Amino acid sequence: MKAVVILGSRNPDGQTATAAGALAEGLRSQGADVAAFYLPQMHIESCRQCDSAGWGVCRQEGRCVIEDDLDGLVDAVAAADVAAFATPVYFADLSESMKAFTDRLRRCCVHKAGKAKLAGTRAVGVCVAGGSGGGAPNCCARLHSVLELCGLDVVDMIPVRRQNLTLKCRLLTQTGAWLVAHARGEQADPPA
Ligand SMILES: Cc1cc2nc3c(=O)[nH]c(=O)nc-3n(C[C@H](O)[C@H](O)[C@H](O)COP(=O)(O)O)c2cc1C
Repeated sequence: MKAVVILGSRNPDGQTATAAGALAEGLRSQGADVAAFYLPQMHIESCRQCDSAGWGVCRQEGRCVIEDDLDGLVDAVAAADVAAFATPVYFADLSESMKAFTDRLRRCCVHKAGKAKLAGTRAVGVCVAGGSGGGAPNCCARLHSVLELCGLDVVDMIPVRRQNLTLKCRLLTQTGAWLVAHARGEQADPPA
């Protein structure tokens, strides 16, 4: 079983990484191989809104003309059985790196060839509000919306705030274990 964890934080010691690490621990506890990708360390450009109507070959062919790390990342998600998307909450929204990634991904997924790559992959989202603690539910709604638009099978969204990070990490570890069991078709919750 393969799992990918995509992080919109640049800080491997930060709160988003802590939350994603707890989820990965649960994934590994059920035998998943976990690969993690930190978007700010990758080369993912912003959409160029190529033509005068704001579209590009994304609309006709389900791919992006920009040659950067997007394709490799999409291939990694497509090859995985389960995927997790973890972003810090910025202005009650996705981080800029997660936004740039999902902005381009959703355009490619407007075309059936793009959408087919990720269709049905089980996914969870994690949004970590590490400042005041506000905005995680709104960020979850936005992340959920774009992941579904891309054809992913979003089975859970988990808002986290600085004040409940420790509590939510326990839940995230259980969620990771459950996600693998769910992907295997097991109905029962895994043991706590
Ligand atoms: C531009 C910016 C906007 C932010 N907006 C919020 C916010 O709306 N709510 C909140 O609780 N924290 C906010 N924060 C704090 C981040 O959520 C916090 O720094 C992040 O979870 C921790 O980052 P890390 O996971 O990379 O360590 C913001 C931080 C930045 C840099």
